[in-house]
Amino acid sequence: MTEIVKKDLLYKGKAKEMYTTNDPDIMWVHYMDQVTAFNGKKKVQMAGKGQTNCEISALIFKDLANHGIKNHFIKQIDSNNQLVKRVKIIPLETVVRNFASGSFEKKFAVKHLMKFDKPVQEFFYKSDELDDPFINDFQAEALKVATEDQMNQMRAIALKVNDRLKEIFSEMNIDLVDFKVEFGIDSDNQLILADEISPDSCRLIDRDTQKSLDKDVFRKGLGALVPVYKEILGRLEKVEDVK
Ligand code: TMP
Ligand code: ASP
Repeated sequence: MTEIVKKDLLYKGKAKEMYTTNDPDIMWVHYMDQVTAFNGKKKVQMAGKGQTNCEISALIFKDLANHGIKNHFIKQIDSNNQLVKRVKIIPLETVVRNFASGSFEKKFAVKHLMKFDKPVQEFFYKSDELDDPFINDFQAEALKVATEDQMNQMRAIALKVNDRLKEIFSEMNIDLVDFKVEFGIDSDNQLILADEISPDSCRLIDRDTQKSLDKDVFRKGLGALVPVYKEILGRLEKVEDVK
């Protein structure tokens, strides 16, 4: 591969900056030391946050690729930067839940961490202005956000991700409560997993202490976030078959 050089800032999100490179099919992702919640309404700078998420996400995406789940990850450049395949992001958040928490718990007034018999799947439309509303297949098709076939593909891939993530976190003595993933369409018109998988986008509960080891620590003001993310990275690095 010829040397990849970072070029122009294409998009700045709430946690990452995306740059073009000298290769039109490759993007340069910079993980920022910024954490937000409630669709950007709560925002804080935190040294070390970008690095831990960048490293956690790289390890997880590499592992998922090794388990047959195609994704955008190419390689880690340094602590805060990685190269990914350029995709057109589908503006949907695909959520999988194993236990009740967050918006599900609130919406249906059920017991915190009630275990589901099978994974619950939901989609949300990515829009800060609209507060990421829930969206169903008919609504997504009507808005031309995704086709029926794409919705089915996203659901199926998200379930495979759930199966593998549950295995990984189980090795880390952690229950995977829920998570969010995003998908994109690559230059071959294939739908692949994209964005990041990190404690920003998962809910993780330590099996011994029942404490949150994810962004809920920040959302609920439970303490310092970076040490918690470092704990996740440390445990992940010890999982035998995650390399
Ligand atoms: P929710 O319970 O707030 O709907 O969140 C479900 C999962 O999605 C949880 O793991 C946190 C994650 N999530 C994001 O990654 N980004 C978001 O903007 C939201 C609202 C949730
Ligand atoms: N991802 C959203 C934000 O960064 C919401 C959240 O995670 O709570 O503001």
